[in-house]
Amino acid sequence: MGKDYFSLTPILGQMKYLLKRGNVLNQVKDRVKWNVFPAFYKVADFPTHIDIESASACQLACPQCTNVIMPTKIKGIMSWSTYKKVIDEASERGVYSIKLSWRGEPMLNPKIWDMVKYAKNREIKDVAFLSNGERMKVPEDLEKMLDSGLDWISFSADGLYETYNRIRAPSKFEEFSSKLVALRDLKRKKGVDKPLVRIQTILSAIRDNPDAYFDYWEPIVDRVNFISDEARSDEMRQFPQDPDYICPAPWQRIVIDHKGNARPCVCDYFERNVMGNVNEQSLYEIWHGKMFEELRHLQRTKQRMEKDYCAECCHGGLMQESEINVRGNATKIRTYVGQKGVGDDASIISRKIRSSSLYNPHISSKSE
Ligand SMILES: C[S@@+](CC[C@H](N)C(=O)[O-])C[C@H]1O[C@@H](n2cnc3c(N)ncnc32)[C@H](O)[C@@H]1O
Ligand code: SF4
Ligand code: SF4
Repeated sequence: MGKDYFSLTPILGQMKYLLKRGNVLNQVKDRVKWNVFPAFYKVADFPTHIDIESASACQLACPQCTNVIMPTKIKGIMSWSTYKKVIDEASERGVYSIKLSWRGEPMLNPKIWDMVKYAKNREIKDVAFLSNGERMKVPEDLEKMLDSGLDWISFSADGLYETYNRIRAPSKFEEFSSKLVALRDLKRKKGVDKPLVRIQTILSAIRDNPDAYFDYWEPIVDRVNFISDEARSDEMRQFPQDPDYICPAPWQRIVIDHKGNARPCVCDYFERNVMGNVNEQSLYEIWHGKMFEELRHLQRTKQRMEKDYCAECCHGGLMQESEINVRGNATKIRTYVGQKGVGDDASIISRKIRSSSLYNPHISSKSE
């Protein structure tokens, strides 16, 4: 888990999840590489993981999310030719995992199930994405999902009932939840474990009663997770930074946006930096290129504050230990200092973002 990412599922359930994921030896090898290489500043010959933005468009407008203030001109969906180029090289280089989501909603890409299928046919071991589930049709998409070979999917549901309805409007909690029940039932009927299903919420939406969230979802999904609220939007950047933070990202992963541009990391929401473009260069050249070298150097020498996007990155914010009560036990978690969540100050954050001139919740899923 990342430093701001936690599970409500007890340890036994987490072990079961790991076993159901399969490829246990490869999973362990991959995790070692993921954690050890950055610790020793070792640049892998090729990244072990690629984030591929199947869509940067989104039909919802969750108040905590950067997507609502991203300019319309940077919203779109990935073309098949760009996708194929990324997967072909990833497959030849033995990439272990890909995630088909970044800033938008993957199910707005009409080819999403073909994308998963193609990656699985090219032997990428771990293919997954995060989704709001709002466009998922029952049973059509569920059948396609199982048929595609998807390894896991994480549905985002911030809080239960009214909290969910407020944050994830116009998606409705009961309707959303019934789709996940249908998915569970279809998997049972077919006798399959995959895709493993996670549910994820931001912490501020469940902090008052994490048990209720866990108890609701535990019978329906394979794992219940939460993430500490991050100040991801440009309008929330006033928080203390940790000057000693060295970010592992440039040693771990490469992020390809829907236009084929390689981005330094998942925090470059506003496209301030481009490390290369996969339609003009190989991923290998980009990973070993000058831009990545410079970023790694700045991180290693604790000069990240010189890069505008690193200097205001939510991940580099100071953290504090905090506690929540899970099943009667005080459980240690980490939260960011001064990075408020929608549950902390919903009216202010939501009003601020929704009144932004860039806010456009009903962006359509246009093709490139
Ligand atoms: C940006 S969304 C993209 C995928 C998809 N649209 C979804 O909602 O799952 C990925 C995840 O980021 C989370 N997220 C958005 N804003 C956040 C914030 N300010 N702090 C922490 N997590 C956030 C969302 O709740 C979601 O789980
Ligand atoms: S569903 Fe919500 S969290 Fe996901 S990209 Fe859209 S606005 Fe952001
Ligand atoms: S912006 Fe900088 S510090 Fe933040 S995730 Fe990206 S590389 Fe790491």
